[in-house]
Formats: sequence, structure tokens, C-alpha cells
Amino acid sequence: MNTYLSDEEYDDWFFDLGGARDDLVQLLKTRGLGPGSRVLDVAAGHGTLTLKVAQAVREGEVVAVGLANDVRDYKWFRTQVPEGQFSSMVYYLEMDATHLEFEDGRFDFVVNFLGLEDIRMTSGDEGMAHALQEMARVVRPGGHVQVAIAVYGDEPDEVLLKEVESFIGHGAVFPPPEFLRDQLRENGLEMDEELLLVPGRKLTATQAKEEISFACERTPVIFQEYGVRTRDFEEVWNRFGLEIERVGLAHYSRISCIVARKPLG
Ligand SMILES: C[S@@+](CC[C@H](N)C(=O)[O-])C[C@H]1O[C@@H](n2cnc3c(N)ncnc32)[C@H](O)[C@@H]1O
Repeated sequence: MNTYLSDEEYDDWFFDLGGARDDLVQLLKTRGLGPGSRVLDVAAGHGTLTLKVAQAVREGEVVAVGLANDVRDYKWFRTQVPEGQFSSMVYYLEMDATHLEFEDGRFDFVVNFLGLEDIRMTSGDEGMAHALQEMARVVRPGGHVQVAIAVYGDEPDEVLLKEVESFIGHGAVFPPPEFLRDQLRENGLEMDEELLLVPGRKLTATQAKEEISFACERTPVIFQEYGVRTRDFEEVWNRFGLEIERVGLAHYSRISCIVARKPLG
């Protein structure tokens, strides 16, 4: 059963997620992530995972890519994190995940943490497939691609989340893990490991209202050039508000992580 976030926890929940990013960095360390690694973080958002990876890498090269709004967010986020030894080798570039401007096999690791939903929103299903193809292309033979997506489970608050996200209409809905596996295999990668993380939390009605109003009111503005549209907040709340008050709304309650490897030769 997912438990409610307190208002204090909610403020930082996306940056915390029950330590999910740390767990994924640990997993990559068992695949050789460390000093000297060359890593690409695709659709890196604020760069929360990027900086954790950079801490693990040191003296390697960590490149993060995102849209113009992400570059702005990263610049702010970077000021919130104490200067560390890793700061000099993080390069945050404005670049679309569907067309990565790097040569084949440039990176030892390519990571994508909760980015596919947003890529689907800006570029559709086709864009999401292109982004996965690009991730597979720029990893070197013997290197790893790690993709993490939120999973909608069977709890009432999780079923409700999927309905709410679909109804909002912006297209920001995570694909099922099977889609991910199929796409990575189609692009020549082999499945290496799969991990289900269960932060197990949900939003109160007040917190859910804040999330949904952000999705309805801000995303069309932030992603205006991609033609992102949503329904009005009132329409969404009128339809789902009562049920959300009854059972809450899941919020990254389960995260599925797939690690795939590019075969040698
Ligand atoms: C949820 S964030 C990623 C979170 C991040 N990995 C972390 O550790 O917090 C996903 C980001 O993908 C960006 N995005 C959406 N479409 C994109 C695209 N086509 N190419 C690159 N980034 C994109 C959005 O701007 C959004 O900030």
C-alpha cells in the first residue's frame, strides 16, 4: 500500500524518490561505472541524476542533454549543490534526445531517468522510439544503456494516476516496460538486468491539485514550441477530484529500471 507524502516530503519528493537515483548509480557501478567513464544522461531535466553520476565518475566525462528549459533549470540546480571535485567535467548541452549529435559508440554508459514520458510529450511515440535508437547508437560495444520509467501498478491510486495522466491530454504517459525491452532489443542491445524500485508513496488531494494544475497550466507554456496541449484543470478535477480525495494519487510509487548491454563486435 502506498503511503501519503507529508507536505514537507512532497516539496522535495521528485529530487529524493526514496533514493532511487542512488540505487541506479550503485547498479551502474557494478557494471564498471567509475573513474574515467564517459557517460551521457539523456533528457536530463534539472540534472539530478547527472550530478550523482558525476560524483561516482570523477576524472571522466559526464555529458547531459536536455531542452532549453532544462539548461535553465540545470543552471539553477547546480547552484543548490555544493561545489565538488566533479563540477569541472559535467557538460550540459541543449540537444533533442531524438537527434543526438554524437558519433556512434562515443559513450561507455547512456542513462535516461524518467525522461521517456516527457520525450513522448514533446515528440510522440515515434520520438520516443527514435530517442531509444539514438541511445543505443551512441553507446560503445560492451557499454550499457540504463533506462528508468515509472510503472503504473494495481493499487487504486496507481490505476487512477494512469487515468488522470491520460485524460490531461499532454501525452506524458510512461510506456510499459515491454515496449522498452522490445525497443532496446530491436536496436541491437541485450537485456542485462531489470530492477523494480518501490518508493511506495502517493499524494494527498491538496498535493495532487498542485501537480495537476502545474501539468494543465504550465506544461503548454513551457513546451509551447512543441505544440503541447492539455485539458483545463477544472475539467480534470471535476472528473477525478472526488476519487483522488478518497484514495490519493500515486506519485512515482514504482520505478522500473532496465539495463541493456551492447554486444562486443
Ligand atoms: C523528468 S525530466 C528528467 C529527470 C532527470 N533525469 C532527473 O534525474 O531528475 C525529463 C526532461 O525531459 C525533457 N525533454 C522533453 N522532451 C525532450 C526531448 N525531446 N529531448 C530532450 N529532453 C526532452 C523535459 O524538458 C524534462 O525536463
